[in-house]
Amino acid sequence: EFFAPKELPLRGKKIVITAGPTRERIDPVRYVSNFSSGKMGFAMAQAAVELGGNVTLIAGPVHLDTPPNVERINVESAEDMYQAVSVRFDQTNLLIMTAAVADYKPKHQANQKIKKQDSDTALEMERTKDILATMGLRKTTQVIMGFAAETNDVITYATRKREKKNTDYIVANDVTAEGVGFGTDTNQVTLVSKDGIKEFPMLPKHALAHELLAYIANQEG
Ligand code: CTP
Ligand code: CA
Repeated sequence: EFFAPKELPLRGKKIVITAGPTRERIDPVRYVSNFSSGKMGFAMAQAAVELGGNVTLIAGPVHLDTPPNVERINVESAEDMYQAVSVRFDQTNLLIMTAAVADYKPKHQANQKIKKQDSDTALEMERTKDILATMGLRKTTQVIMGFAAETNDVITYATRKREKKNTDYIVANDVTAEGVGFGTDTNQVTLVSKDGIKEFPMLPKHALAHELLAYIANQEG
C-alpha cells in the first residue's frame, strides 16, 4: 500500500482556467483595470495539474510564475481572453473562470496619447463580452465553474449569477472579510451549485484549490 499510486481524480481531463485582471486600453500609455492578483487562478492551475489534469492557464497581466506542467497563454484584454477561451471550449472538460474580467472597456482606443483638456472629462465606455455567460450558452458536456467576489448579499448574488450564466458552480467569497479576496494568500469561500451551498474553511489558496477540485471531481464522478 505504501507504493500505491496517489489518487488523481482529474486524470485525462482537459481543464481551462482563466486568471488575473484584464486590461482595457484607453490609448498607448493608459488602461482601465482592477486589483486582481491572479493568485487564486494560479493556485487552481497548480492544484488541477497535481490532481492529474491537463491544464491550460489563460492569464491576464500578473506577476506570477507559471506552475510546473501548466500551459500558459498570456492575454491582455477581455476580448483577448474571450477569444482564447472560445477557441478551446469545445475540447474542454472543465472551464474555471477565476479571472476578474473588466465589465467595461473604453468605447474608442486612441492611437496617440490623449492630451488633457479642460472640457471633456468623461471617458466613454461600453460593455465587454461576458465570457462565462457566453460559454454557458454554448455548453454541452462541459462543467463550468465561475467565481464571484461580493461585498454583501453574497449567496443571493452568487446564486443569481449561477442561474443567469448557466454555470454549474459559482465559488463565492465575501471580500470584506479578513484574509479573503484580492491579493491575500488565504481565502474563504462558499460553493454554490444546483444542489445548494457548501461552505469551505479559511485556507491557503493552494489548499483551498485542492479542496474545491477534489469536491467537484467527486460530484461529477
Ligand atoms: N465574467 C466573465 N466575463 C465578464 C465578466 C465576468 O466571464 N465580462 C465571469 C468572471 O470570470 C467570474 C464570473 O463571471 O467567473 C462572475 O464575475 P462577476 O464580476 O462577479 O460577475 P458580473 O456578472 O460581472 O457581475 P457584477 O460585476 O455586476 O457583480
Ligand atoms: Ca464584473
